[in-house]
Amino acid sequence: MKNIYSNIFSFNKQILKKTEKSLIQGEIAVLPTETVYGLAGNAYSRKAINKIFKLKKRPKKNPLIVHYYNFDDARKDIILNNYFIRLYKKYCPGPLTFILKKNKISKIDSQVTAGMKTIAIRFPKNKIIRSLLKSLNFPLAMPSANISSGLSPVTAFDVFDEFKKRINIIINGGRTKIGIESTVIDLTSKPKILRPGIIDKNEIKEFLKINLSKRRTKFKSPGMFKKHYSPGIPVILGKKPNNTNQAYIVFGKNYKNKTNYFNLSKNGNLKEAAANLYKIMRKIKNKGYKKIFVSKIPNSGPGIAINDRLKRAGN
Ligand code: TXA
Ligand code: MG
Repeated sequence: MKNIYSNIFSFNKQILKKTEKSLIQGEIAVLPTETVYGLAGNAYSRKAINKIFKLKKRPKKNPLIVHYYNFDDARKDIILNNYFIRLYKKYCPGPLTFILKKNKISKIDSQVTAGMKTIAIRFPKNKIIRSLLKSLNFPLAMPSANISSGLSPVTAFDVFDEFKKRINIIINGGRTKIGIESTVIDLTSKPKILRPGIIDKNEIKEFLKINLSKRRTKFKSPGMFKKHYSPGIPVILGKKPNNTNQAYIVFGKNYKNKTNYFNLSKNGNLKEAAANLYKIMRKIKNKGYKKIFVSKIPNSGPGIAINDRLKRAGN
């Protein structure tokens, strides 16, 4: 029987070499991270960057995050900042993306940053992507591996669901641990969270011992576009479904096991709920439900990021 998933590879030395070669040639590849799967390309190569935008159908004005192995690798592309150094030491590698001023000497392709003077950088934790970043002599521009405005993938098969055979290499690193995208923090002026994530604003606030900015940014991080993270069917928050043909996303122990009920975490654990969010939304969509209702989810810690994604999914 023909293997329909012939572009999904398990991780070993050979596939690592093959992926390296292909990235050096300006091709793109899908790699796992600790948050979601990413569509990776050489951040110096216009050819690779164009491919990423085209495949994702991403608007050219929405910049990409540049991924590095460590601080030394990122150093030449950024203007250093004290908050960045402190947060780097505490959380990196890990699910935190920094918006910093871009260094004029940086060789990052201008399309990566959508022509702006700022740059988004991240140090992912997953061992597969780290071994690639370590051996390559360029950083990787890498958005989530989904068609623009859809659900981010948390398994190699979710990526296949999005792109089928249009990508040659998808490295299977199993299901991602965190399950939602990194927290994005803007450090170009008073620190401000642009995209909530597992590392939440209170944690950062306490660690830096400062108040975070609540200002509205002139340039809205396009991850803050109203419609985003969408399963492609209506999502209605805070209401119960009227019939069993509608899916109901719930949270906590007070819900029965029904075929149209999908529990993000029976134990009421918000971290677990975040890890299950996209997985469950994709499952609901693929089962053919036409509408999703969502019960109330506590708006604290990872709950802030969950509610943010759900709100956008519903727009
Ligand atoms: O967890 C993650 O961050 C994943 C994995 C693959 O690393 N990546 C990810 O990338 O979520 P993407 O492209 O789906 O989201 C990047 C977000 C977008 O909202 C983008 O607008 C914002 O970061 N961004 C990138 N550069 C920026 C900049 N210079 N200023 C403001 N926002 C920026
Ligand atoms: Mg994305």
